[in-house]
Amino acid sequence: MYICLEGIDGSGKSTQLERLGKWLEDCGFSVTLIREPTDSPVGLLIRKMLQSPSAQDEGFQRTLALLFAADRTLLMDTIRKEEEMNRIVLSDRSFYSSLAYQNGEDWIAQINQHALEPDLVILLDLEIETALTRCEGTDSFEEANFLESVRQRYLKLAQQHGFMVVNASNWMNKVHDDIKRIVAPKLGMCI
Ligand code: TYD
Repeated sequence: MYICLEGIDGSGKSTQLERLGKWLEDCGFSVTLIREPTDSPVGLLIRKMLQSPSAQDEGFQRTLALLFAADRTLLMDTIRKEEEMNRIVLSDRSFYSSLAYQNGEDWIAQINQHALEPDLVILLDLEIETALTRCEGTDSFEEANFLESVRQRYLKLAQQHGFMVVNASNWMNKVHDDIKRIVAPKLGMCI
């Protein structure tokens, strides 16, 4: 089972993913946590490039899209192997991040044709103002506009692809409970 958390920066994905992983392990499941960008050389290059002041420019985003797709392609074998060992793969982001952040749906889908489709996508949705107060030093007007368009694309993708949407502006424990309630039946558990 390949489960993915998606959401804009500041939506709390990493914290929730760790808590979900811990809970599943306590329930007796074997869990592997992954994240995109990964820690591969491509992932490290992406992280470096994301620090550029022009990171949100169109041309730059196109280059990033190719790098994200390359980084992700490397990750797919890992996911397959973990699933073969009956482990639950919990991922912080998937190719849906590229559809939401890089835009240009057809082209992004094309370069991500080798990406596995997650069995379950949970979108942590929250207002940009709240998200920005959680991310240090990223409160510019451009940043807010950019994130608002990413959020809207996520909500559209959620409708098109049947993501489960969780209100991430709630208190951390409530978000965790909401996520557990979505995941449990997928694994045959009653909570
Ligand atoms: P993020 O999840 O914030 O990683 P970390 O918390 O480890 O720094 O991802 C870094 C940024 O990369 C984030 O702003 C979203 C962006 N991103 C894309 O634009 N496209 C993608 O395909 C992926 C996977 C991430």
